Amino acid sequence: MVIPLSSSDSSSVTRRTFTSTFPKEVRPKAPPIKSQGIKTKLVPFIFRSFSWDMRKGTWIEPFVGSGAVAFNAAPRCVIAADSNRHLIRFYQSIKDGRITPSTTRRFLESEGEKLAKKGEDHYYAIRSRFNKDEDPLDFLFLSRACFNGMIRFNSKGGYNVPFCRKPERFRGAYITKIVNQVGWVSAVMKHADWQFIVQDWRVTLGDARSNDFVYVDPPYIGRHTDYFNSWDEKEADALAASLRALPCGFAYSMWSRNRYRENEHLQRWFSDYPIVATDHFYHVGPQETLRNAMEEALVVSPKSALPHTEMERRKKALQLELGL
Ligand SMILES: C[S@@+](CC[C@H](N)C(=O)[O-])C[C@H]1O[C@@H](n2cnc3c(N)ncnc32)[C@H](O)[C@@H]1O
Repeated sequence: MVIPLSSSDSSSVTRRTFTSTFPKEVRPKAPPIKSQGIKTKLVPFIFRSFSWDMRKGTWIEPFVGSGAVAFNAAPRCVIAADSNRHLIRFYQSIKDGRITPSTTRRFLESEGEKLAKKGEDHYYAIRSRFNKDEDPLDFLFLSRACFNGMIRFNSKGGYNVPFCRKPERFRGAYITKIVNQVGWVSAVMKHADWQFIVQDWRVTLGDARSNDFVYVDPPYIGRHTDYFNSWDEKEADALAASLRALPCGFAYSMWSRNRYRENEHLQRWFSDYPIVATDHFYHVGPQETLRNAMEEALVVSPKSALPHTEMERRKKALQLELGL
């Protein structure tokens, strides 16, 4: 069911209840920041896999990343946390009004022009400037001009993704697209209570209360390890134990199988939980060998799980929509 918006809300914002009514239309929008593992395309699958009444609690996302899931969910009350301070600062700046669609346009037009003239030297100049000053608009520029839309930092915390080698990247239509994405997330946050916090997932989960809903999308074990992402079996085990002890409902995104193997972590921790799965292909990977079709799974807490018949109905509708 879609909650009608108050007249002061932007008409482009759809707030959902996640109650058992099938959301007829979930056309996910992309946020302004790109990242590997971004969940935009999986939003319809995620949103159709659980129920939660968002009028009663807070949406808690301890690994918010680019914010693709939280912004599309558009709840009124949100705790958006991540260990990567650059992501959090970027969205905090939009929330504070320091970054607006017009400041974004001016910035990208000016830097885009310099990039077109000077080529990759300008990309690397911005990268050095960002690694010194950590300006959120420079972060946006890098995220949209780097190789493959990657976010990756070296062991000292310096952003180290190379240039995408397209100096003419920031043309009018591309800038307008990014400006509209900034406008969209800004509208989603308006008249709603969004908290952006740099913190470890353990602290974030500590805030959960019984009517809240937690969506977790941690790094995949053994993938994209960098300064802000060091995820191993031990961390994954600790997270799984904490999720099982939560006082509220949750959904946990992870891969369930690929061409070579099953995810045994999933079986070990959640074989007694409802698990829904879909096919998804990750185009971005550090190595070619890791770029395989993956079955993406969502572990859903019993409290948020849908009745079996409803689940089957939603699954069929999603398969039809995706042409599977
Ligand atoms: C797979 S990404 C999340 C992607 C996100 N769902 C999206 O659609 O963009 C995982 C995120 O976890 C964050 N992260 C890694 N370790 C963390 C930790 N210990 N505590 C909190 N966040 C962490 C990373 O910075 C990264 O943004």
